[in-house]
Amino acid sequence: MRYILRYFLVAFLVVSCNTIKQTTKVQESITSKAFDTREIQGGMWVPSLLKGMNEEEMKLLGSKMTAEDIYSVNNSSLKDAIVHFNGGCTSEVISPNGLLLTNHHCGYGVIQSHSSVDHDYLKDGFWAKSYAEELPNKNFSVTFIKRIDDVTDAVFVGVTEGMDETAKQKIISQNINKVTKSAKKEAWQDANVKEFYKGNQYLLFVTEEFTDVRLVGAPPTAIGKFGSDTDNWMWPRHTGDFSMFRIYANKDNKPAEYSKDNVPYKPAHHLPISLDGVEENDFTLVFGFPGSTDEYLPAVAVDQIVNTLNPAKIEVRENALKIVDGFMRADQEIKIKYASKYASIANYWKKWIGENQGIEKSNAIQKKRDLEAKFSKIVNEKELVGYKTLLSDFETLYKEFEDVSLARDYWIEVAYRNTELLNASFRAFQLEQAFLRGGEQAFESSRTSLLNRYKGYYKNYSAKVDKPVFEKLVSLYAEKAPKEYVPAAMQNVDYSTLTKNIFNNSKLTSLAGAEELLNGSAKEVIEKLNADPGYRFGKDLHSTFYFKIEPKFQELNLKIGAVQKKYMKALMEVFPSKRFFPDANSTLRVTYGQVKGYAPKDGMRYGNTTYLKGVIEKYVPGDYEFDVPKKLLELYNTKDYGQYADNGKMPVCFIGTNHTTGGNSGSPAIDANGNLIGLNFDRVWEGTMSDYNYDADICRNIMVDVRYVLFIVDKYAGATNLIKEMTLVHPKK
Ligand code: ARG
Ligand code: GLU
Repeated sequence: MRYILRYFLVAFLVVSCNTIKQTTKVQESITSKAFDTREIQGGMWVPSLLKGMNEEEMKLLGSKMTAEDIYSVNNSSLKDAIVHFNGGCTSEVISPNGLLLTNHHCGYGVIQSHSSVDHDYLKDGFWAKSYAEELPNKNFSVTFIKRIDDVTDAVFVGVTEGMDETAKQKIISQNINKVTKSAKKEAWQDANVKEFYKGNQYLLFVTEEFTDVRLVGAPPTAIGKFGSDTDNWMWPRHTGDFSMFRIYANKDNKPAEYSKDNVPYKPAHHLPISLDGVEENDFTLVFGFPGSTDEYLPAVAVDQIVNTLNPAKIEVRENALKIVDGFMRADQEIKIKYASKYASIANYWKKWIGENQGIEKSNAIQKKRDLEAKFSKIVNEKELVGYKTLLSDFETLYKEFEDVSLARDYWIEVAYRNTELLNASFRAFQLEQAFLRGGEQAFESSRTSLLNRYKGYYKNYSAKVDKPVFEKLVSLYAEKAPKEYVPAAMQNVDYSTLTKNIFNNSKLTSLAGAEELLNGSAKEVIEKLNADPGYRFGKDLHSTFYFKIEPKFQELNLKIGAVQKKYMKALMEVFPSKRFFPDANSTLRVTYGQVKGYAPKDGMRYGNTTYLKGVIEKYVPGDYEFDVPKKLLELYNTKDYGQYADNGKMPVCFIGTNHTTGGNSGSPAIDANGNLIGLNFDRVWEGTMSDYNYDADICRNIMVDVRYVLFIVDKYAGATNLIKEMTLVHPKK
């Protein structure tokens, strides 16, 4: 009751100013008897704007923290322990000496780069037993967020309603430049401005980037990637998906290029680690850098994704994966070459399938249509003239968008992502374009970087695998992409003959051949390229993309963006008591929820935690996905879990209702008091549609239990040096 009263107070504090606050009126559904916690979960919130609604919601869910505990400019707070990990994942500081925790799949590239046949850290794991053994990395960085300011007013100076979209965007980018340049910051810090709520709000981020980041530890793949693709996006899960790094700074604790004189960074905050574990309904907060979501699309757009775009992308990948898998199973060398490519293609293939099923199952499109009907009714009743045509504008624009959007997806999936020869020809096409636009000089610098790229590229290339993929995918494109975007050379041909001709005669099927093509003066290279059948075939496709698909796509995208911006504003006005969070955009966000099992199907109920016992149940000796290291089997048999056991059992993963997406990998899961309890790394299959439609009934994020991380570090790896520098706590005892 006390909470509810407080909740009402907040409702009256709704601030009326032109910038957007994460503050809306109290949920009508919350009554003093039993409110539905599902109503106050979901959303990825800006950490500097938590006061008010979010703070209250978190308390209702069991949090003991204030908004200031999570984000503060003047005092140390949770945010000082969170970093963007090389621009993609998230990572957190877990010791006073700059020790970082992130996922194994986030550190994968780095671990691989230090591996060789003699030291295979992917296979065997890696543990530095002292600072001196930690491994430095090139072209790598982590970024702290020092401050977030609302700069909406400054960004909109000089923008008026009547202007056309292109003119508006021009002034906005000029203003953003000005705001960024004049931002108050220290010499070693950076500033950048990002758009929120579809361009209705702009926030400035002052950041601090560290580039001396060293690898500290990683478990073997059989732990860090246990279950691999079969278990990916699935619950129950048993993956110890973690690795450790350390930030180094100069003697003044400031960012500095790698130097052996650098010292471990002293953070303003590091996360204490709870050994007490979690149970159903415990509060959880996930703090990190979610990449992108699209929560406010109209029904017509989601319909297009589910019924047109996703099926096309799924079909292309399914065909490519089937062919590659056949070769990988038969040939160990091909298996190694294609393992990482296969995993990344399979990752989103599987995600899209789950997404489509989830949208259907949760009736998301119909729910959006119902909301739109309500929206129209209110707009008409209140005579909100400016909003009357929004939904019909969407209908018209998305109809016009469908073919070009589909063609773009076919080009990306066939010519860019899945057929390697076509990707190689696209890079060469860009080289020719660089020459046409920038002459010899542009050509030279592009050639140097292309030669470098090809070296890495062909190391893992097999023409034997690529050839049948080419034949299948090219015929799919020709058959299924909208006709006006299919080049003539692809129509009415025999794909088998075409493929044979290209793979027998193109130089793009090997590194030596590609290097030969790129050798000589710019003019000679362009001539040789254009005489190569692989290049010429690719060029037709890439020109279609460059000169037909992309310009039309961007033009319509700008128009849709303008409608979407107005629609976002309109939704917030028309439904003032609904919760609106800004879509993810790779900026720092807080999401909160509770530990919770779920029912994936009628008559089926999933628990919230998995245990080491489940690893053993899945164990297939020698299997590339489900093998278990001998030492782990021994620890299981002797139940040697030390202080990390939970009533004699070893927890491995748990799930919660936190609303996460790609980029949240490596994010800390934090308890009601600000202690680390887990490490986010995935979502459940039934809930991957949360990028378009979060539903607290079936959307769950998957976290490694931090006690499993500590158990592996301590008991499996014997890296007690790392355990010693952490702050272990017992908040429940
Ligand atoms: N599904 C997770 C994510 O989206 C994990 C991917 C890495 N693991 C894998 N088996 N491919 O990134
Ligand atoms: N594995 C994802 C990542 O790399 C996180 C999972 C998700 O998409 O929620 O960020």
